[in-house]
Amino acid sequence: MNHSVAGKEELQELRKDFVILSHNYQIPEIQDAADFVGDSLGLCRAAAKVDKPYILFCGVDFMAESAAMLNPDKTVVVPDFNARCPMAAMLPAKKLREAKEKHPDAAVVLYINTLAEARAEADILCTSANAVTIVNSIEEDKILFGPDKNLAWHVSRYTDKEIIPVPYYGHCRTHVFIKKEHVLEAKKKYPEAEVLIHPECYPEVQLLADYICSTEQMIKRAKESDAREFIIGTEVGLLHRLKKENPGKKFYAVLDKAICITMKKNTWDKFILALKEKKNVVKVDPVIAEKAREALDRMLETSSSKPPLGPVPVKLGEDIEGTERH
Ligand code: 13P
Ligand code: SF4
Repeated sequence: MNHSVAGKEELQELRKDFVILSHNYQIPEIQDAADFVGDSLGLCRAAAKVDKPYILFCGVDFMAESAAMLNPDKTVVVPDFNARCPMAAMLPAKKLREAKEKHPDAAVVLYINTLAEARAEADILCTSANAVTIVNSIEEDKILFGPDKNLAWHVSRYTDKEIIPVPYYGHCRTHVFIKKEHVLEAKKKYPEAEVLIHPECYPEVQLLADYICSTEQMIKRAKESDAREFIIGTEVGLLHRLKKENPGKKFYAVLDKAICITMKKNTWDKFILALKEKKNVVKVDPVIAEKAREALDRMLETSSSKPPLGPVPVKLGEDIEGTERH
């Protein structure tokens, strides 16, 4: 751990006007220093309750944009502007507008991993924690869903609605590193372990899970489950909290190389510098922000009246030919 750039007292002084929010994939030092650590849904909820003038947001671009949209009167600072989610860049607003023209009768549900301009075209947003609940809460039977085609596949198995992925190739570069063979290998090595998989993984990987979970739902499941060992199919940053909050249990990453390099652009040095300089301020065009916020607010409202399902037990089906589960 590199604490040379700021001692404990200096850190206390530097952070006094800040609420520090961190995603579950941030480096352990940042998670430990944060006021709140969580998944995309938890971070939005926490951002909506900030009571200080500054937010230091440690995650990636689309998350920091959500915090800025929810706090137009506050200053949102990030450690590194280059922490950008490649999936969010896969759905530019123009592409979404074209899809809307092709499917004028479809509602638009966007994964929160999108940028403000695309969000401004959406009816409602969702996260990996509440995607199924959000889709099932809307009236239309036809849904344009983007940008993650793997999350779209997960949702399509828990709804009767027609899900049209937009674009058809949207994916997370980190989660698609995790292959079916990696999970099968881990299951062979740890036969007693419960398997928790993120819905950004490929369908054939999801089918090997016991539960499909957002990162925070993995934390919840690990606490509640009677299992003593867990195979974790997501970015390895989550292992820090899993181990810290469950000292008696064992956690194995499906793939040690499942590292989101963009999340890891936020180093401890840049974190301290951001507190000191307050320079990397997140700005969203106010007109776009206002429209995009409607879709974000709708998600938050729906999520309070209809709580997410929680860890979703995997549904076995015939829709992936030749997929072995065990
Ligand atoms: P959650 O933490 O919301 O499950 O999202 C994972 C992710 O990849 C965020 O970019
Ligand atoms: Fe984007 Fe995937 Fe990294 Fe999440 S883990 S920020 S979806 S690239």
